[in-house]
Amino acid sequence: MLELGQIEGLDRVLVLPQVGSTNDYARQVLDAEPGSWGAFNLIATDTQTRGRGRLDRIWLAPAGKNLALSFLIRPLFSTQTLPLEGYHWLGSLAALALADSLGRMGVAASLKWPNDLLIGQKKLAGILTQLLPEKEGGYALVVGLGLNVNLEAAELPVEGATSLLLATGRPHELGALAGEIASSFAAYYRAFEAAGWNPQIPLDLDGRQASLLERLETQTSTLGRRVTLHLPGGQQVQGVAEGLTPGGELELRADSGEIRAYRVGDLVHLRPAES
Ligand code: BTN
Repeated sequence: MLELGQIEGLDRVLVLPQVGSTNDYARQVLDAEPGSWGAFNLIATDTQTRGRGRLDRIWLAPAGKNLALSFLIRPLFSTQTLPLEGYHWLGSLAALALADSLGRMGVAASLKWPNDLLIGQKKLAGILTQLLPEKEGGYALVVGLGLNVNLEAAELPVEGATSLLLATGRPHELGALAGEIASSFAAYYRAFEAAGWNPQIPLDLDGRQASLLERLETQTSTLGRRVTLHLPGGQQVQGVAEGLTPGGELELRADSGEIRAYRVGDLVHLRPAES
């Protein structure tokens, strides 16, 4: 079982020896005991048996080797209200916080739009955000983060995945890593709140005054690449990812020349030979 010490900036931390899905568990406990969760909480395990991925996929992880972290966030408890249309930024904050934590360990990771973490072109971590209705009205959000930590090559769930063990050549202590990621995310959350939830106002973090959008533009390796974007409904667009809109959508110049911004989709980075 994970061992987590005191983590700065969190209202409550719950560590589970094993669970189906930490995201599902977050929904259940919010329904069952809404009074016992504050603005920013963590439910964590190293053994998740029925993890959920984006687009109704499953998220596989062998017992005891990876981190499954669900941040149960209740913006209604914050001093300033975060409008519902701004909730999607919280997934971006989690991805940036994870990239920063990895950077402090000497691991260079980039973001694949919207919130995947890559090392090179291999996926190290994924994020699934889900809205949870609050009994009193409005919504909480669960930001579920799955990180491949101590997987050997033969244990990788899919071909395009990697792990921290493979990237660094050494195993990592899961509890310490979870604590570092959680305090980094909490710091991002508070800084974003202090910036009035405005992605264009500088966030005062790590002695750097860069806005959320600027940080995303710097860290997102999707930008400038040729990509295929698979849209809900089965259509796909191929082209060059030109930038992020002020709302965080991906701006794509399609091969037809048309430029459009997309809020959702499943993105594939194309290698030069596939372009
Ligand atoms: C993706 O498809 O890339 C997102 C994967 C998200 C997995 C995490 S693990 C913790 C949390 N609990 C879940 O069931 N899913 C998320």
